[in-house]
Amino acid sequence: MNKSSVRDIEVKGKRVFLRVDLNVTLNKDGEIIEENKIRSALPTIKYLAEKGAKVILATHLGRPEGQVKEELRLDPVARKLADTLGHPVYKTDHVAGEEPKKALEMLKDGDILMLENLRFHPGETENDPELAEQFAQLADVYVNDAFGTSHRAHASTEGVARLLTSVAGLNLEKEIENMGKILKSPERPLIAVLGGTKVADKIGLLHHFMTIVDVILIGGGMANTFLKAKGYELGKSFVEEDKVEEARSILDLADKSRVKMVLPVDFITASEPSNEADQKVVFAEFIPEEWQALDIGPETVKMFCEELKNAKTVVWNGPLGMIELEAFAQGTKEIARLIADLPIVSVIGGGDIVTAVESAGVADNMTHISTGGGAALKFWEGKDLPALAALQEKVTV
Ligand code: 3PG
Repeated sequence: MNKSSVRDIEVKGKRVFLRVDLNVTLNKDGEIIEENKIRSALPTIKYLAEKGAKVILATHLGRPEGQVKEELRLDPVARKLADTLGHPVYKTDHVAGEEPKKALEMLKDGDILMLENLRFHPGETENDPELAEQFAQLADVYVNDAFGTSHRAHASTEGVARLLTSVAGLNLEKEIENMGKILKSPERPLIAVLGGTKVADKIGLLHHFMTIVDVILIGGGMANTFLKAKGYELGKSFVEEDKVEEARSILDLADKSRVKMVLPVDFITASEPSNEADQKVVFAEFIPEEWQALDIGPETVKMFCEELKNAKTVVWNGPLGMIELEAFAQGTKEIARLIADLPIVSVIGGGDIVTAVESAGVADNMTHISTGGGAALKFWEGKDLPALAALQEKVTV
């Protein structure tokens, strides 16, 4: 990447506004159940604190839409960080205004101060220039380490970056290198595993991948729309009726591009999406009228495994079943375990599957797990990401 890095600048004694992505998954008791984003944010925080910067940490959590939502306050995140770092993390109750300014005056070199959830302020997602200016006044330098929000032009990701010396953090550099490398010079065969509910979200990606990958394995709700395009009846399964034509033309394009597209041949079906509902394993041709496909079936897992065993590189975006329900998370977990066991390069786009990969116990065996869901998708589509565009170019002499 040719953006300036946090390692290129002097930070001792400086106030550094560090945008991280600590939009972690919480369980219903408000406990953090996803480690990847916390783990990925640590190196830059430690680096800055050890170099004697005054670190102003900024992140969003969830989508509170400009309102203060008590359940989305960052106190548990600040506590978790402090425990993991073994270093105090002070926290404000406000995003901007007098309180953060006063708290900052108390900071010593090496101290860490976390602002409240940025999206409690309506100006954050509106990229309000006044809010960006307030952020800029808090700091001498801006560091973006939040790959997961780099596709958003928000006050803390794009607006403020244009007002200060702005550089990339260590996680952001690593993301761009790992995510970019596999598409530029992958070891082949390169297999893409794509899941998630909607074809609509993946059209750009599918088109871009047609020019890059050798095989595409499709699972999740979007597989249903492809099967429908091939003439299957799928009972009450989710199908995007208005994308069936699009799915058909993607299948044609795959034929022409000589990309092998592999669709599920069987499913775990249930009468309703619930852990307690009756389940049946059925072939794709025989989904009962009143039932729905909620996970890939055992034959499909076997077939995907056979393909994956030939891969040298795997990129994966999106779950293969309805993983928010444990009963339908098994296909995704089995594929994760297999990929983790293979001696290959494996890059996992972030988002929903990170928790499934973590709960399958194989996160450490993947080459790279991205912190970005939507951002990973846009990056792999070859789109410009506004928060990255706002960072300074590296000065080469
Ligand atoms: C993510 O978790 O993908 C990022 O934090 C971005 O979140 P958003 O989709 O709510 O902007």
